[in-house]
Amino acid sequence: MLSRKLQAYLFDSGTTLDPRDWESLRTQSHRMLDDMLDYVAQIRERPVSHPAPEATENVFRAPLPLTSTSLSAAHDTFLQHILPYAVGNAHPGFMGWVHGGGSTVGMLAEMLAAGLNANLGGRDHIPIAVEQQVVRWMRELFQFPESASGLFVTGSSMANFIGILSARSAKIGTAVRATGLADIADKLTVYTSADAHGCIAQALELAGIGSNQLRKVPVNHLHQMDLGDLERMIAADKATDRIPFCIVGTSGTVDVGAIDDLAGIAAIAAREQLWFHVDGACGALGMMSPKIAVKLRGIEQADSIALDFHKWGQVPYDAGFILIRDSQVHYDTFASPAAYLRREERGLAAGSPWPCDFGPDLSRSFKALKVWFTLQVYGIQKLGRMMDRTCDLARYLSDRIASTSELELLAPVTLNIVGFRFRHQDLDPDQNPDPEFSDRLNSEIVVAIQESGIAAPSSTTINGRFAIRAAIFNHRTTELEIDNLVGTVLRYGKLLTENLHSKS
Ligand SMILES: Cc1ncc(COP(=O)(O)O)c(C=O)c1O
Repeated sequence: MLSRKLQAYLFDSGTTLDPRDWESLRTQSHRMLDDMLDYVAQIRERPVSHPAPEATENVFRAPLPLTSTSLSAAHDTFLQHILPYAVGNAHPGFMGWVHGGGSTVGMLAEMLAAGLNANLGGRDHIPIAVEQQVVRWMRELFQFPESASGLFVTGSSMANFIGILSARSAKIGTAVRATGLADIADKLTVYTSADAHGCIAQALELAGIGSNQLRKVPVNHLHQMDLGDLERMIAADKATDRIPFCIVGTSGTVDVGAIDDLAGIAAIAAREQLWFHVDGACGALGMMSPKIAVKLRGIEQADSIALDFHKWGQVPYDAGFILIRDSQVHYDTFASPAAYLRREERGLAAGSPWPCDFGPDLSRSFKALKVWFTLQVYGIQKLGRMMDRTCDLARYLSDRIASTSELELLAPVTLNIVGFRFRHQDLDPDQNPDPEFSDRLNSEIVVAIQESGIAAPSSTTINGRFAIRAAIFNHRTTELEIDNLVGTVLRYGKLLTENLHSKS
């Protein structure tokens, strides 16, 4: 009774954000949970995505709220103006960019983590033990030693950055943390494939090394880094006064899902005494499938691996991760002792080192919980089978392309990404006389499909040609959605060919 009175006082005096009436909050909470479960359960009945009307855009131009609104009113706004206009990556027809579909398990775990509101930067508490358990599981998955360190980060862009900084420390030490790179910045050299993700160049920019120091090694017909060229480039750089320090291999390139010859790169890196980093954003978690793990052979020899649970791992955004073989190098790259972060043998400040010693973030969310739940509830075997299935669907799509004269496959399919284009009928398929028309047509097809809400591919350039790109990362996708994509490309292809011709 007293506590109720106290609660009422706190509420009335405006000093707490807790509700006055927990029962009505409970009712509202259940409504919100039910709405999200309905959203996921009925996702197939919705369009993939929907352009938002002007009225909705206007809702988010309203000024800073000065007074309170009820939770149910804010939730109504969410239902009416946010939920229908998300990009649609939970939908099985979404195949754009590299987006996972999420899962109900991850969603519920995210709610638990938010309720706990743990700060995983440090301190001695069990949420850190959960993160460390996932780190141990990743060591096991990638056959890394017990001494390896790992850290949750936002995504692979950040994980790759941490990998590059650690590689830099391994080569030239950590004095540069204080001194800056000064006169060696433009000598440090990194090698990666011409098809590598743009965040590798950005990591060099952020590291003060500069993207000019990134050697983009040409790729072979399978879009893998050409290892002969790699060796020649390293030799040429060593012959001058450059300081090669890192090779970045990719396990699943963003454009076509190619996997570099990781074992080959590992051998070159060992011989040349270079750090071997793997950008595993798209494909590293394929280690959960015995069929895909074979293609990743050599990843276990990496010095560091960047990966994303929010892509193939189906964990809700965001959940990137970096695994580093030499935990001392990792620690020395980031640890920044401070009086207010003093460590103790006992009490809440025990348990050193803390996660904040291994990356730039001091305040960190409990991302590990949704990953822990996902791995615990589904298990590695089921997740691996799900990944196999997405690769099967990519092959199904490439077979459909091969057997359809109006479509053309633009790159071999190694994993779950397919690049292709519509070949308009009135042009000779072997001697395309108007590539510009063809590129414009295909880009309009992609936009039209996205706006139709039937499917959502994205686009890229493959071998200099505009490509419709289907990246099948969503565990909900089936042959039906692949057939819908093919049917829609053909339909819009014909329609837009006529429209564009009549305009020209
Ligand atoms: C190969 C590759 N590397 C890195 C990234 C960046 O990952 P994130 O978006 O998690 O930062 C991506 C994103 O798609 C990617 O495909």
